[in-house]
Amino acid sequence: PRTPEAGEKRVVVASPRGYCAGVDRAVVTVEKALERYGAPVYVRKQIVHNKHVVETLEQRGAIFVEELDEVPEGAHTVFSAHGVSPAVHAQATERNLLTIDATCPLVTKVHTEAKRFVRSDMQILFIGHAGHEEVEGTMGEAPDDMILVQSPEEARTVEVDNPDKLAWLSQTTLSVDETMATVEILRERFPNLQDPPSEDICYATSNRQAAIKQIAAHSDLVIVVGSANSSNSNRLVEVALDAGAKASYRVDHAAEVKDEWFEGVDTIGVTSGASVPDILVRGVLELLEEKGYPKAVEEQLTEETLTFSLPRELRAPRTID
Ligand code: F3S
Repeated sequence: PRTPEAGEKRVVVASPRGYCAGVDRAVVTVEKALERYGAPVYVRKQIVHNKHVVETLEQRGAIFVEELDEVPEGAHTVFSAHGVSPAVHAQATERNLLTIDATCPLVTKVHTEAKRFVRSDMQILFIGHAGHEEVEGTMGEAPDDMILVQSPEEARTVEVDNPDKLAWLSQTTLSVDETMATVEILRERFPNLQDPPSEDICYATSNRQAAIKQIAAHSDLVIVVGSANSSNSNRLVEVALDAGAKASYRVDHAAEVKDEWFEGVDTIGVTSGASVPDILVRGVLELLEEKGYPKAVEEQLTEETLTFSLPRELRAPRTID
């Protein structure tokens, strides 16, 4: 990346940003379910953590619920990209719901790793944030054998049953650097700690963090587009600040950008979380132009080509009822 001249106004938009393969698949899943079965289609929790996406799907006939007891018996119900625990699957069966599972395959992978470790009598230290749907879903695989570790501080004090039968796993959308710091502390305390068989923090999370890191180092301000409950969007703000941005804020859309953020600001970096449609980023870039900043240049760190096929239920040929 080019270091800007002093006083030069510049807007750099990060790439990769926005939609990942798992979010794209989850959103298309709801759209296809609506096409195939007609409205309403119920969705347990927000399909992805983005207000705009949820509102758009609501207008097309999706009904978002917190829990399955709000869904009428026998209705078509989509599970969100963040995954669900076995208890939720069991409840769906009990209520005769026709479920379509939009869990991101990279979240399912972590569920599978958790089940394997637990089958071989290991206890799991699960690095993640309490209350996040993904954490509830993954830890639901083996609630008695998984302990949540939320920060490097908690890694210093967590107590385990047997330090020789211990593994760690993580939520897919954490800060790569903070997670490594947490793991280092755990490993110092428990030298026989086993690693996940492959990275749990997903490619989309790491790529978006690496891309904004480069830009943030030369930015007076970094704007991250993403909703308040989006884990990976919040992490992008932290990563930008750690990488040297003088200030960084998260906004849902352009209307949330505040005038006072621009005082003395020449260089601006822009990115978006994995659940954010690019139209919202374009809105922010247009606003910056209205404020007298030049057209944004894009800095691409790497190209993403991964795509996931739709959930099995939507791939099967349609049967006549
Ligand atoms: Fe999946 Fe990562 Fe996106 S876990 S939903 S690819 S942020």
